[in-house]
Amino acid sequence: MKIEKASPGCGAIVTDVDIRSMSDAEWRSIYEAWLEAGVICIRGQSLTIQDFLSYGQRFGQIFPHLVKKSRHPDHPELTVMGIDARNADGSVNKPVYTRGHGWHTDGPWDPKGCKATQLYGLEIPSRGGDTLFANMAMAYDALPISLQKRIEGLEADYVYGGASRKSADLLEPEDRNLPPVRHPLIRTHRETGQKTLYFNPTHLLRIVGLPDQEATALFQELEAYQIAPGAEYRHKWQVGDLITWDNRCTLHSATADYPIEERRIHWRCTIASEDAKGKLVTN
Ligand code: SIN
Repeated sequence: MKIEKASPGCGAIVTDVDIRSMSDAEWRSIYEAWLEAGVICIRGQSLTIQDFLSYGQRFGQIFPHLVKKSRHPDHPELTVMGIDARNADGSVNKPVYTRGHGWHTDGPWDPKGCKATQLYGLEIPSRGGDTLFANMAMAYDALPISLQKRIEGLEADYVYGGASRKSADLLEPEDRNLPPVRHPLIRTHRETGQKTLYFNPTHLLRIVGLPDQEATALFQELEAYQIAPGAEYRHKWQVGDLITWDNRCTLHSATADYPIEERRIHWRCTIASEDAKGKLVTN
């Protein structure tokens, strides 16, 4: 098994291993490399749904995503991404095509907490359709000390799609107005101890206790530091890539730019956050 850095800022690429038959030592090396890099891609896999879910369960408990439309009918904890990106008349089905576009972490709106997300590439377009990742610990380190001090102790509320609830089209009516979930703007990673800027414009509803104008000014200030120089990695997908990213310390964004006449299909699952005793937690 070979593990290489994908970029100086984040990401690692693993080759020459089959996750269905890897040894315990190989799994431990993958998990350690994942904690260090925030994103890990195992190349060249050939998986059944069960293989995919079992690998996800090594990272933690997996649970169904809030978007019910894209759940696999026999495996609700499996989301199938990219199906029906084109309407019957050939036009773009925007909510599906642009799903995941815009910098975010997954599940800040979910009371279960979302430690990690896993994608497996089944059908990859000939161009475009990359996924971007960025290191949030580097974003924290890039903040001026005065700004780090100003946001210490501040918290933000999150709902699916943020204040504009822009992705609500993907949700069933009963899931469109769920109560927000609160997170500090600075989080400490429970496994690495690193401090990260946890700032998630896509799903942000408000900064707790700040009047709207002040909150908007602070968003804009933080946005300028969100992607620190050198913190980014662009993943160019191959069929058989199996990627897991750590939502506690990385941001990601789909590029939503592949030719609409081609297909981009992934399996996806969400992995819950647990404390050292296995209790589900939001951070
Ligand atoms: C996501 O944001 O969960 C999906 C990212 C992608 O499709 O590249």
